[in-house]
Amino acid sequence: MAETSETSAAAGDAGAEGTEDTGIDPAIFSQLLPFDPFDPAFHADPYAVYRKIREQGPVTRTPLGLVVVPGHAGVSAVLRDNRFGWGDGATVAEHFSEAPDGTTVRPFIFMDPPDHTRIRGLVGQAFSARRVDALRARAGELVTELIDKAVAAADGGPVDLIDAVAHPLPAILLGELIGVPPEKHERFRALSTDIAHGLDPSLFLTPEEVTRRDSARAELYEYFGRLAEERRAAPAGDLISELVTAEDTDGGLTGHELVVTLTLLLSAGFALTVNLIGNGMYALLQHPGQLAWLREHPEDVPAAVEEMLRYDPPGQMISRVALADAEVEGVPVAAGEQVMLMIGAASRDPEVYEDPDALVLSRPAGRNLGFGLGVHFCVGAPIARLAAQVAVAKLAALDLELETATPPRAPYIITRGLRELPVRLTAAD
Ligand code: HEM
Repeated sequence: MAETSETSAAAGDAGAEGTEDTGIDPAIFSQLLPFDPFDPAFHADPYAVYRKIREQGPVTRTPLGLVVVPGHAGVSAVLRDNRFGWGDGATVAEHFSEAPDGTTVRPFIFMDPPDHTRIRGLVGQAFSARRVDALRARAGELVTELIDKAVAAADGGPVDLIDAVAHPLPAILLGELIGVPPEKHERFRALSTDIAHGLDPSLFLTPEEVTRRDSARAELYEYFGRLAEERRAAPAGDLISELVTAEDTDGGLTGHELVVTLTLLLSAGFALTVNLIGNGMYALLQHPGQLAWLREHPEDVPAAVEEMLRYDPPGQMISRVALADAEVEGVPVAAGEQVMLMIGAASRDPEVYEDPDALVLSRPAGRNLGFGLGVHFCVGAPIARLAAQVAVAKLAALDLELETATPPRAPYIITRGLRELPVRLTAAD
């Protein structure tokens, strides 16, 4: 997910401990954002707050001048409009990597066309539907193994679906897709977690979080560099092998672009996939009627996952900067202004969705914004969908019951997810 230095500040540990450690006055966040990120009621139900923001109009400005766009039409329009982008990247420079030779390398999620177009095209070649589809059977096996292991370890007690399935599944799948050998998967999972926790700018993270994020990035940089050299010498049919050989008319990726891209795939994709599975299963277990419907219509799991993505999106905000004077839904926005596109609010827009606050797995497919739109549309959507579809299909077939009505939530704002999802679980047959 893309985020600006200001908005992503609020995506850090919005709990009081995070701000004490970093010395930031929490009041600043309520001036910057259109809601109070420290209010537990906000995290329990942000959609009630988003509704009020949507009702204020298609565009609002916070006291500190952030341009807030909460409606489906406005969000879609900005994402399709090349007058909005990243410009010089100043607002997200902390997410850039420094190569060992001192060069700064910008991940392509923070680039504008035409630079973005070149790298995205090369990555797209390697991220083929064939490669992702080939993982489906493997994903099924993995989910079964993970569930069996968790049930055995729980010995009749509750199972945490985040730790047991939602977290390891994408870590292993992404590892296998990219080409990280199995003995490295545990390490890979730990590094992915440190990077996911450190998506926020250093200023708003604790010193420990910054150190962990930076050393995870450095370790991955070094590791992917070595792996790329190995694959260049002896291609192995994995994504790294394809990326080292991918070329267009202007040539292929430079060595630095390659390792930064691999690190981006990991940081952009991992936490959000965990949260799609976690949020989706939580929503399903809160709606037994919908769970029963899904059991009767297992062929509709793909549509059900799209509805889960709409109902409680793992990525709640996308940011942009106005690169020129522009307008959104008729409201002028000046060049240089920062814009916050509220995916969570747009996904409950009554102009687009009938009864938007209801989970309706049979809902007709609409223009879901959960993976973004336009030139930056999520490159990992096929693999995220595959992981979630397989996990939901297998889990829905079990006898599951929530252990608690309010599982602990990570109090972030840009990403939304659960820390734990304890359930009572027995195989249904
Ligand atoms: C449920 C899981 C996921 C969600 C909700 C999600 C969401 C998104 C969104 C909303 C964007 C657009 C960002 C923007 O416009 O600024 C995006 C872009 C991106 N995503 Fe995902 N994503 C998920 C999984 C993944 C996975 C598994 C990968 C990689 C394997 C991935 C890699 C990327 C990359 C590289 C971009 C940037 C694309 C570009 O700039 O052209 N994502 N994602």
